[in-house]
Amino acid sequence: MTVPTRTRPPGLLVVPGSVVGDVLAAADSACRDLVARVYVDVARDQVVNPDSLFLRPDPSRRSRIIALPAWVPGEPPAVGLKWISSFPENLSRGLPRASALIVLNDPTTGHPTAVLEGARISACRTALSAVVGADTLRPGNRHADVLAVVGTGLIARTTVAALRRHGWTWSSLRVHDLDPQRARVFVDELAAGPPAGARVTGTVAAALDGADLVLFATTAVEPHVPAAEWFRPGALVLHLSLRDLTPAAMSGADHVVDQVTHALRERTSLGLAVDSGVVDPGGIVAVGSLLDGAPLPKPERTVIYSPFGLGSLDIALAQLVLERSRTAPGVVTVPDFAGA
Ligand SMILES: NC(=O)c1ccc[n+]([C@@H]2O[C@H](COP(=O)([O-])OP(=O)(O)OC[C@H]3O[C@@H](n4cnc5c(N)ncnc54)[C@H](O)[C@@H]3O)[C@@H](O)[C@H]2O)c1
Repeated sequence: MTVPTRTRPPGLLVVPGSVVGDVLAAADSACRDLVARVYVDVARDQVVNPDSLFLRPDPSRRSRIIALPAWVPGEPPAVGLKWISSFPENLSRGLPRASALIVLNDPTTGHPTAVLEGARISACRTALSAVVGADTLRPGNRHADVLAVVGTGLIARTTVAALRRHGWTWSSLRVHDLDPQRARVFVDELAAGPPAGARVTGTVAAALDGADLVLFATTAVEPHVPAAEWFRPGALVLHLSLRDLTPAAMSGADHVVDQVTHALRERTSLGLAVDSGVVDPGGIVAVGSLLDGAPLPKPERTVIYSPFGLGSLDIALAQLVLERSRTAPGVVTVPDFAGA
């Protein structure tokens, strides 16, 4: 048997946040299309997307770090891991709640090829998952009478900005946050062109009243919306924060997710609603199936969209960013990362 000549693994690229942000902004449409394509691949079972692993160093605190590995088909396939921390107390330290890195691996050799700043990619794919969900569930109608936003951190800002960029409009905007100052800052940041009706509400109920498009992006760990009647019939609820709605609030609606088994884990509202018997797991639909031609929910029905957040989206977008940033200023190559 011939012994293969020993070769040196390629260097490791380090792509910092500023470069990631520039590429994502320049590739917005391509990123949206990629999110939709990955959802279809997920629905067709062509993606390897194991359960996310939650590390909670201290169960009495809300801090956690999540590992999301994935393998996504493509030319080349994208393979890697997102490692994302959520430390809600960071807000009082003046730091973002979430921080992340993404490792990409060579699909042939498994060698790590790149490390990318991951929080921007994560926020971008989350916002675009909301856009893809909204576009899919409300085809031909990118207008809301009333948009309600509950929770006004980074994800809400990124998502509202993405909805706007992708053609969504609304006649009025209601915003609620446990911290009213954050809600006011959020409304002020939209001052570049908010509708005249933008206002901060003192309660979640006041924000939801009459809203036909609702975005939840809180850090609630226990459900706090008590009843389905809080939603206008036929509302589209983008439940990105996953844990705001009690089983009673989840009942009677149609449910759409990114991947069914993922979305029922980790005490999500949908998981609790299934456990308590008010939602039939057999009726939950993956957004990728809808994109692939499955029948849409009826427009008069309230739809609650709960995308759990798939590592496959992060890894696919990271691969796109890497391909468009290899020679960008600011990208650092560690030529001999593995050592001789
Ligand atoms: N589904 C996904 O794919 C996905 C991806 C990324 C983040 N997320 C989730 O999105 C949520 C928001 O993330 P972020 O980075 O914007 O967080 P953030 O900490 O920046 O902001 C959260 C905001 O929600 C407010 N809030 C907390 N509880 C509330 C409540 N009960 N009612 C009203 N406001 C409340 C906080 O005051 C804060 O302003 C988190 O729960 C995060 O886990 C989901």
